[in-house]
Amino acid sequence: ARVVILISGTGSNMAALLEAAQDPAYGVRVAAVGSDREGTRGIELARAAGVPTFVVNFRDHPDRAKWNEAMAERIAEYEPDLVVSAGFMRILGPDVVGSHPAVNIHPALLPSFPGAHAVRDALAHGVRVTGTTIHFLDEGVDSGPIIDQVAVPVEDDDDESSLHERIKAVEREMLVDTVGRLAREGWTIDGRHVRFGRTAP
Ligand code: GRF
Repeated sequence: ARVVILISGTGSNMAALLEAAQDPAYGVRVAAVGSDREGTRGIELARAAGVPTFVVNFRDHPDRAKWNEAMAERIAEYEPDLVVSAGFMRILGPDVVGSHPAVNIHPALLPSFPGAHAVRDALAHGVRVTGTTIHFLDEGVDSGPIIDQVAVPVEDDDDESSLHERIKAVEREMLVDTVGRLAREGWTIDGRHVRFGRTAP
């Protein structure tokens, strides 16, 4: 399956996918890595790995709709079977999510703590267990059908950064596992329920 990965920052989840994709048996070809900003560690990593990259700078566009349109055009050039938002910090509009299946990884157990500060919000709420969710994207914020989740306990001395690092270690494993299965087995979405495999349940 051809995959386009979208990132905004460090790109450690992207790097895990690039590594897994080195093995042809994994079933994923990373067609391109795209970003909404220049100069991040993630985009440099992708370039160094020899993967095609594109940047559609949010600030170069008059409004969100125009930026989304430009992003959608660049993504479509690579004809992806799946778009993977892995640490991509902007909301993708219907131009993108209406044209290609897309998944997102979120550092909390959705529907708890959606939005851009999930780890901070979970800590502030005092939860003892949080985690990570991989879900299909729809037009809402962190709201599409859930594919998989893994729980991560909160330690007494955690701060946002220590907790986020432990979540990210779990995310990389879950992302590699889930994207590989989607690519190799296909999927079926029945309402809010996602199953691997192409035959309807
Ligand atoms: C991850 O925790 C992801 O869930 C969140 O942003 C983080 C990205 O980390 N949306 P990285 O760029 O993959 O290192």
